[in-house]
Amino acid sequence: MAEPQFTPEEVQEGQRIVNYVITKGLDNDTIVKRFDEISEQYNKAQTLIGYKGPKWMGESLAALYPSNRENVKILDVAAGTGMAAFEMRKHGFVHIDGLEPSQNMLDEAKKSNLYERYICDVLGENTLDIADDSYTVVTMVGLSSEIMKKLPLKALEELARVTEKGGRVMINNYDRNFRSDIIRTNLSNLESRRVWKLEDEQTMPEISNGVGGILQVYMVL
Ligand SMILES: C[S@@+](CC[C@H](N)C(=O)[O-])C[C@H]1O[C@@H](n2cnc3c(N)ncnc32)[C@H](O)[C@@H]1O
Repeated sequence: MAEPQFTPEEVQEGQRIVNYVITKGLDNDTIVKRFDEISEQYNKAQTLIGYKGPKWMGESLAALYPSNRENVKILDVAAGTGMAAFEMRKHGFVHIDGLEPSQNMLDEAKKSNLYERYICDVLGENTLDIADDSYTVVTMVGLSSEIMKKLPLKALEELARVTEKGGRVMINNYDRNFRSDIIRTNLSNLESRRVWKLEDEQTMPEISNGVGGILQVYMVL
């Protein structure tokens, strides 16, 4: 099916809203407050700028799990309004929990019943209120740029801890957000300690209006 076409003014308006939440230099609390403010406009804004992260994740997940999708337990981190869960459900994945610090974004996801458990929390230096080995797959689609670029080692260890052995952590984002020294060092730290291994890396020339994307798949060991 052809992608919908929007006027340059509509695209500009979508980009204005997205820029408001991805402004460089914002601290963590301000980022979450801004997502709270724009939660009702979020899906529309991302659609206007041709954001493909959630669809890409849904398709990649479906390719890795061609059968028994109803048995795959997923934690969607930085869940937002549930755009990724919406795509996963199209492929028959039904057991999806969402972790997201903005209550208003989670409330938008609740309106469409996209998750089983709604966990209002941040990924960071904290220990998540989730038991070890709880999920087959942890996905993280489009985590806020300023957070992603500085994601601490503990946050990545938490993603691996809540994933069962042989399960996967799947991350996609703007390609530029994978390039910061901090995220690169921390991602490979877990590889060198054999906590996980990089199983696949895909690129997309345009994940959003004029920006390339990367999707990485880590197998938890
Ligand atoms: C661009 S949205 C992506 C939402 C959804 N995954 C999608 O692709 O539409 C970024 C999300 O990251 C969330 N976020 C910000 N800081 C976070 C943190 N420390 N841990 C987890 N999520 C965070 C924001 O609240 C926001 O909902």
